[in-house]
Amino acid sequence: MKLFDVYPLYDVNIVKGKGVHVWDDKGQEYLDLYGGHAVISIGHCHPHYVDMLTKQLNQLGFYSNSVINLLQRQLAERLGKICGYDDYQLFLINSGAEANENALKLASFHNGRTRVLSAEKAFHGRTSLAVEVTGNPKIVAPINDNGHVTFLPYNDLEAWERELAKGDVCACILECIQGVGGCNVATKEFAQGLAKACKKYGAVLICDEIQCGYGRSGKFFAHQWLDIRPDLITVAKGIGNGFPMAAVLISPEFQPVYGQLGTTFGGNHLACTAALAVLDVFEQEHLVDNAHEVGEYFIDELKQLQKTEPHIKEVRGRGLMIGLVLDVPQKEVRSKLIYEQHVFTGAAGTDVLRILPPLCLTKADADDFIYRLKRVFASM
Ligand SMILES: Cc1ncc(COP(=O)(O)O)c(C=O)c1O
Repeated sequence: MKLFDVYPLYDVNIVKGKGVHVWDDKGQEYLDLYGGHAVISIGHCHPHYVDMLTKQLNQLGFYSNSVINLLQRQLAERLGKICGYDDYQLFLINSGAEANENALKLASFHNGRTRVLSAEKAFHGRTSLAVEVTGNPKIVAPINDNGHVTFLPYNDLEAWERELAKGDVCACILECIQGVGGCNVATKEFAQGLAKACKKYGAVLICDEIQCGYGRSGKFFAHQWLDIRPDLITVAKGIGNGFPMAAVLISPEFQPVYGQLGTTFGGNHLACTAALAVLDVFEQEHLVDNAHEVGEYFIDELKQLQKTEPHIKEVRGRGLMIGLVLDVPQKEVRSKLIYEQHVFTGAAGTDVLRILPPLCLTKADADDFIYRLKRVFASM
């Protein structure tokens, strides 16, 4: 059997990782400012993570959600304290799309409505409702196109308020820093106005923190820069440092109903162990603060570079979620970074280079990247 060929691949076979570096099968080392698409939070193969998962695997890999799983309770308690949502409830699943599916479903169970507002260029996943609220018609199949969604310009409060005032909106879903959309940052005025209007008109506010959350922005959640408190928060990627896991954080206003939500694999013993190991390392190594400090330094240095480097049109983002808007196709720069300078980065659209490193990145690593990026620009 052949693989279903949906991924355009770089000709690199990564076989090993450590911290912010990975190695290919020929022994070539790469600086990883992509983290396998913002997934690696505490660094590749962190010894504490490897140790905890190995021990758990030797004890019990999986049991279903029909019995008590103390690891889930431990995770809910720890996560609630660390992220400032002690009073919320935790529902565990396996992927970002699944988190958004469940959040939208919960919102609809909650207020009985079916209409959703989402931002232009938003990305919320590739399944049913998650893809329907994603602002990219190319990946929405006819079967997903069920007329639930109105797409509105990011940061245009008036447009969102106008739709909310119609009184039929079930939920607004928002990335406070857009990932796939190119590291656009929500303004405080927009986010606060939107949160207020959602309350006023009975709509549920969902913050999709799957990419911008879990410490990446330099606060635990990107929306915490904007002083809002969403009703539902979706997380994935960094929560398990590569172990497939996701969650919905649910406000106390939502009452759980037996059987209304459910999953076979969500919150299994290995996944919870991975997430607990991640939180241990977050605390021991102060990774959210590190993302803040190194992120600020990185952005400042890139802005300095922009002054002398005409290929950089704009530097945007927050913490360790940084977009470089280029005046040349990102594809060319990204390829040169990988094949000539041995650096992995992400991308958005045709002209944005997206930097999403593990949160343990150092200032020296940031300098190293800038050195290599300059060499790419010099060769163009
Ligand atoms: C903001 C955001 N939401 C949702 C998703 C979907 O997550 P998953 O690929 O785990 O389904 C992604 C993935 O890139 C994302 O960046």
